Amino acid sequence: MNDMRENDIAVPAYEQRSTQFMNTEFYVDPRVYVPNAETELMMAFVLEHIEKNDLGQGTFVDVGTGCGCNAITVAKRFPGSRIIATDISPEALEVARYNAERYGITNITFVQTDLVAGVNEVPDLLFGNLPWGDDDHLLQTNTKEGLALMPDIAVFAPDGIVGAYVRLAEQILQKNWTTTLIAETGMLGIDILEENLSNAYTWKRVQLDSQLFDYSVTVFKFEETKKGQLVHHHLIYQATVNRPDLNVESGETLIRFLKDIVEEIGVKILIAPQVAFSHQKAWTGIVGIITSHISFHYWTVESYLQLDVYSCKPYDVEHIVAYLNKYWKASGSKSIFLEREVDRDFMIKYI
Ligand SMILES: C[S@@+](CC[C@H](N)C(=O)[O-])C[C@H]1O[C@@H](n2cnc3c(N)ncnc32)[C@H](O)[C@@H]1O
Repeated sequence: MNDMRENDIAVPAYEQRSTQFMNTEFYVDPRVYVPNAETELMMAFVLEHIEKNDLGQGTFVDVGTGCGCNAITVAKRFPGSRIIATDISPEALEVARYNAERYGITNITFVQTDLVAGVNEVPDLLFGNLPWGDDDHLLQTNTKEGLALMPDIAVFAPDGIVGAYVRLAEQILQKNWTTTLIAETGMLGIDILEENLSNAYTWKRVQLDSQLFDYSVTVFKFEETKKGQLVHHHLIYQATVNRPDLNVESGETLIRFLKDIVEEIGVKILIAPQVAFSHQKAWTGIVGIITSHISFHYWTVESYLQLDVYSCKPYDVEHIVAYLNKYWKASGSKSIFLEREVDRDFMIKYI
């Protein structure tokens, strides 16, 4: 353990009802997360981004404002800007409002909402330090003991390590915002980001200079929705198969099959695979992936299979057909491959 970790900032800050952030004093109490030194690095990056891109008069969203430290830092530096500071916690917003009042800040609107669900203006930039909820990726200035004193909602994301950012990105996409998001991703490695973030937007992990450790922010860029982003690749496959070993007892095997197919096309599971055996002595199975799905129906008596692989991520269709033929010991399989794109006729290919 190094000195920083032993020096638990949480307790004294609550006791003193005060903490320093970007050379400014903020009121804090146990209703809010105590801002830490790493977030100062992110905010220095945010201020630089605003300056470089000449956004000083812009509209910004601080997602998960906590005590308001990030929003207030920007509001003070860019008095001509407008900031919408959101938090799901009404208690945190009380503290943030109090801090803004103390500095006579009038260019921040505080909104209680889930991420940006309740924000209706299109911002020029969003920034945020959202809960990550993973003990393995604590920053250097946090300790488990210190975090235990902070509100659970500020520390633990119910949707996993980058879950809050994944959900935030989905909200931004749904709103069709053309904008940038700068998110604190701390010590999260590129592998975790690659595993969780989608290609519906571009994103870049930026390592910031820190003498303490490897510290990162991730910059997401949401471009105007291009039709190309809405292409879906749909394989419709049917075959007579030779798998007498698959019977009423084969639920686990078929769940494994759905997981394997998801792995073959290299996407992330959104809705866990489910299978069910029906009175027609047939198995039905489905797994949800982002904005698409894979499903099958297998009649055990007739030894007949119908299967759909519907994916927004392009995949090697010949490889998947070969994989299916082999797995199911298929004879006479037939496939159609459709490319579906908004405002365009189906592109059909027979395989
Ligand atoms: C790690 S704290 C960061 C607080 C402050 N921005 C900072 O940098 O010190 C995360 C904040 O996000 C808020 N939060 C958690 N889940 C949220 C959600 N779904 N929508 C909006 N805010 C959320 C928490 O209440 C908390 O204030």
